Amino acid sequence: MELRTLTRLAAPALAVLLALTTGCTGATVQGRPGASGLRDPYFPRAGNGGYQVEHYALDLAYDPADGELRGTAVITARAGQGLSSFNLDFSGLKVEGVDVQGVAARFNRTGNELTVRPAKDVRKGEVFRTRVDYAGRPKALVDPDGSKEGWITAEGGFAAGVGEPVGSMGWFPGNHHPSDKATYDVTVTVPAGYEAVSNGELRSRRDVGGGRTEFAWRSAEPMASYLATVAVGKFKVSTGRTASGVSVYQAVAPAEEEASRAVLARVPEMVEWGSATFGPYPFGTVGSIVMPARSLGYALETQTKPVYPGAPDEELVLHELAHQWFGDSVSPKSWKDMWLNEGFATYAEWLWAETHGGVSAQRRFEAFLAGDTSVDAHAGVDWAAFPPASPPGAEHISDDPVYYRGAMVLHRIRQEVGDEKFFGLLRGWAADHRYGNASTADFTAYAERRTGADLKKVWDVWLYGDERPKA
Ligand code: TRP
Ligand code: ZN
Repeated sequence: MELRTLTRLAAPALAVLLALTTGCTGATVQGRPGASGLRDPYFPRAGNGGYQVEHYALDLAYDPADGELRGTAVITARAGQGLSSFNLDFSGLKVEGVDVQGVAARFNRTGNELTVRPAKDVRKGEVFRTRVDYAGRPKALVDPDGSKEGWITAEGGFAAGVGEPVGSMGWFPGNHHPSDKATYDVTVTVPAGYEAVSNGELRSRRDVGGGRTEFAWRSAEPMASYLATVAVGKFKVSTGRTASGVSVYQAVAPAEEEASRAVLARVPEMVEWGSATFGPYPFGTVGSIVMPARSLGYALETQTKPVYPGAPDEELVLHELAHQWFGDSVSPKSWKDMWLNEGFATYAEWLWAETHGGVSAQRRFEAFLAGDTSVDAHAGVDWAAFPPASPPGAEHISDDPVYYRGAMVLHRIRQEVGDEKFFGLLRGWAADHRYGNASTADFTAYAERRTGADLKKVWDVWLYGDERPKA
């Protein structure tokens, strides 16, 4: 008997069996639970399986006086499988209600997982909307490496939501893994006198009565959720446009204004330089959010508007702007691929220096090899502690080898292939993966294909090798 016939004969029996085991009568079984994590090598529970988000509409109200955040997240997603339940990553804050396609859904929480059980299964391929209403006082979360993310507050009513690597779950529910990028509408209501700043373009700013102002922001290009931000405070705002027409929006804590002025004035020039070096700037707007000094322990390349802990210097601004191409537009597939962010942004600093009166990248590379801090103050770090493509644990994904040895990998490629092919590679990489995700394996394959060079030794020694490279 042919297999097809056997299947046909067996089908009614199977249906009865399924109905018995699931307690269903008649209705076909469609869904199963979506996975509670995407098995990232460093953050296995980050993100969720069974769906991909297309759009987040976040409607937030924040009161700096008591630190209370009220939010509604409407998440539009496409199901990659039939779903009887699915998870969102969410930490702290009280969930007041969840609905799916306008119908109340059951939900429960364990750890940072919010499990949603829709009244009716979601069909495979269906685009469905989940609404989560929540409130509470958002908190800072502590990373494996001890740095703080999530919701950060500072004197004077300043607050910022930041998310690298997994802090975004502290201020909105979502599929918090860099591999799931989506567009965003973020609306924030704050007391009059405060500014609310987020990624993308400001669509409207209006008085909504009751002494409150509403800011509506839109990120039209896809964004990884760790790059989302909201900053609230009595910022001084300035706007402008770059020579090629990218809009500029800079928000600066008043105490940092004077120390920031000269460097922020160079943002348009840096964007133009980046466009000439890496290919067209990937977003319609650019800018900066300068928080009070020491409010957070690091700067972050939040999409279109990096966040700074006080007035930044030129290298830092250049670094965060370079991330807009490398990290933000081309995002890592997993947290193991961090050197594709940090190695590239660091090498961008070297390139900026060599084209703006500083030392050449070759000289800097040699200084790192020799540990000569007279050329670069960072040359004495332990950049050889581990291979950049393979940090030894989640607490090491932002360590020096990821930045500096990552940059040295790029310089080694440049030495092998020459400037013309090297800069073609940088531009091609940014263009080929624009708004997408890429892994280290994607990069090594692309680099060899694009330049025609055999770079195996560079990968073996610089990217994956345990020994300290000598040249
Ligand atoms: N990615 C940031 C940058 O390079 C730095 C950063 C963000 C960071 N979060 C961190 C560094 C946590 C160490 C620990 O601009
Ligand atoms: Zn960086």
